[in-house]
Amino acid sequence: MTDANLLERPLADIVTADSRTAIVFDRFGLDYCCHGHQTLADAAAKAGVAIDAVLSDIDDLGPTSENDAGTEWKELDDLSRYIIKRHHGFVKEHTPVIAAYLDKLVARHGERHPELAEVRAIFTSLSEEMAAHMMKEENILFPFIELLAINSRKGGRLPAGPFGTVMNPVRMMEEDHREAGEHLATLRRLTNAYTPPDDGCTTYRLCYKELADFEADLHRHIHLENSVMFPQALELERRLS
Ligand SMILES: [Fe+2]
Ligand SMILES: [Fe+2]
Repeated sequence: MTDANLLERPLADIVTADSRTAIVFDRFGLDYCCHGHQTLADAAAKAGVAIDAVLSDIDDLGPTSENDAGTEWKELDDLSRYIIKRHHGFVKEHTPVIAAYLDKLVARHGERHPELAEVRAIFTSLSEEMAAHMMKEENILFPFIELLAINSRKGGRLPAGPFGTVMNPVRMMEEDHREAGEHLATLRRLTNAYTPPDDGCTTYRLCYKELADFEADLHRHIHLENSVMFPQALELERRLS
């Protein structure tokens, strides 16, 4: 995906067009989910990243295939089920693993590495907030969005929701995403971009690898909701109104 205008395109649009670019943006610490409205040029300048290196890595991805654009999510109810299974499932599975690693690291290395206690505190807040956030999505917002998609296919009417317009819960979820994105940025800073220290043991390496994977998955998760699911849900609601 090389394109003369790539530099002026928002990060979120680039990832929506080719999901493989998310890996490149994560590698360079460019936030394409909560700050996905920034153009590639602006984001790289702000992060102090050499734009030629980013473009070269995007170029190395080669031509886009149909799957890269996420065409399997043509229907919003499919996307809702995909997010719950793949991304909510990921958070639920990996949170206790990381929490256990962090407990072990703080106990063993906390004195020599005081940042570990801070990493654990931020991760605990993030995981508690994500648990409450995903429960709201799974119990309130996503069932309504699935109904919007089903009614729209059947040529039916706007379903009655427990909120005025879907914009209200969407705004609340976007605010939660912004806070989660800030926690991730803090974790990245505290862990020196998930790089274990030279004296770091195997647990250190495993834990930082888990944290890096957690960040990558949460970025994709938030991107799919903020930039794919929510705009389409708002459009469906408008069409059915
Ligand atoms: Fe979610
Ligand atoms: Fe979310």
